[in-house]
Amino acid sequence: MRILSGIQPSGTLHLGNYFGAIQQYVELQETAGGADRAFYFIANYHSLTSLHDAARLRALTRDVAVDYLALGLDPEKATFYRQSDVPEVTELMWLLSCVVGKGLLERATSYKDKIAKGLEASMGLFNYPVLMAADILICRSTIVPVGKDQQQHVEMAQDMAASFNAAFARDVFVRPEWRFSTGAKVPGIDGEKMSKSYENTIPIFLPDDMTDKQAWKSYFASIKTDSKGVDDPKDPNDTLMTLYRLLAPAKAAEFEPVYARGGVGYGELKKRLHEAYNEAFGPVREKRRAIAADEAFVEGVLAHGARRARSVAREVMADARDACGIATARELRP
Ligand code: ADP
Ligand code: TRP
Repeated sequence: MRILSGIQPSGTLHLGNYFGAIQQYVELQETAGGADRAFYFIANYHSLTSLHDAARLRALTRDVAVDYLALGLDPEKATFYRQSDVPEVTELMWLLSCVVGKGLLERATSYKDKIAKGLEASMGLFNYPVLMAADILICRSTIVPVGKDQQQHVEMAQDMAASFNAAFARDVFVRPEWRFSTGAKVPGIDGEKMSKSYENTIPIFLPDDMTDKQAWKSYFASIKTDSKGVDDPKDPNDTLMTLYRLLAPAKAAEFEPVYARGGVGYGELKKRLHEAYNEAFGPVREKRRAIAADEAFVEGVLAHGARRARSVAREVMADARDACGIATARELRP
């Protein structure tokens, strides 16, 4: 068994990302059974399909590495690397693109959505699922935890693995299975699904120059509520309670009956929520700062991860080349 998942470096992480996905990734490393069985990587080549700003891509890639390490990704328990440090991935993408039908890729809903949103219809964007299949297949991954929007991409990887094996009559690739990595659906401060595209997020890590008071004003005090008074009974599944349950489950369970009966106002719960947020993420913020200051550590983790992933990737790539008759100079063979 090998678990593998990619993370696009696409901006400031928020509570939706944490409770919806990151928490599950971190938990999986505990049960995977060793660093050789849990592979996580930063999909920086994928980001190039929508981001053309070198400095920003570099910064986002680094930030997401620091974020994940601070949030509990443990290089002793998981293999953590940058996609671009395993060049066999892009090499395999070519082989796969020679066995995948254009029609299959044209059915990708994510591609159609992105075009509808105004992204340029580049070949990179069109080939996005082929690159993702290469990520998955090059490491012989068997389980791919993803959000629902990525399910179709993993199914395409299953198709590409089967097409390649059938075309060259050799079982080079194993069939990967998707698994939903999603936890709770986290509401944003306007009550809709928290998402960076709706500007309703609460970040996991506050910007460096933001004070606690500003965080209170921008996030917690701004959570949308109705106009019920202190004594009115309130909805125990509203945005405030949903967030409180995620941030402080035990305290939320205790608070819930009073809230539902009436007798506490929204302001009180907002204050509790702010406190719970600081308790949950305050220590992690310190850890993040320390990791961010230690560039050599972060680079070391990623280099070590890449070496480990590459040793698998080179073997699989050698097998794939051989299966389809692509010769390799004797002295360059792994
Ligand atoms: P965004 O919606 O902010 O653009 P992404 O699409 O980059 O977030 O999501 C990255 C991961 O976080 C995905 O696995 C997604 O399912 C999860 N996620 C994002 N927002 C939420 C949310 N509000 N509730 C639960 N999971 C979420
Ligand atoms: N496309 C995925 C996303 O946007 C990221 C990703 C790239 C990925 N390669 C992958 C996920 C391989 C799982 C496996 O979330």
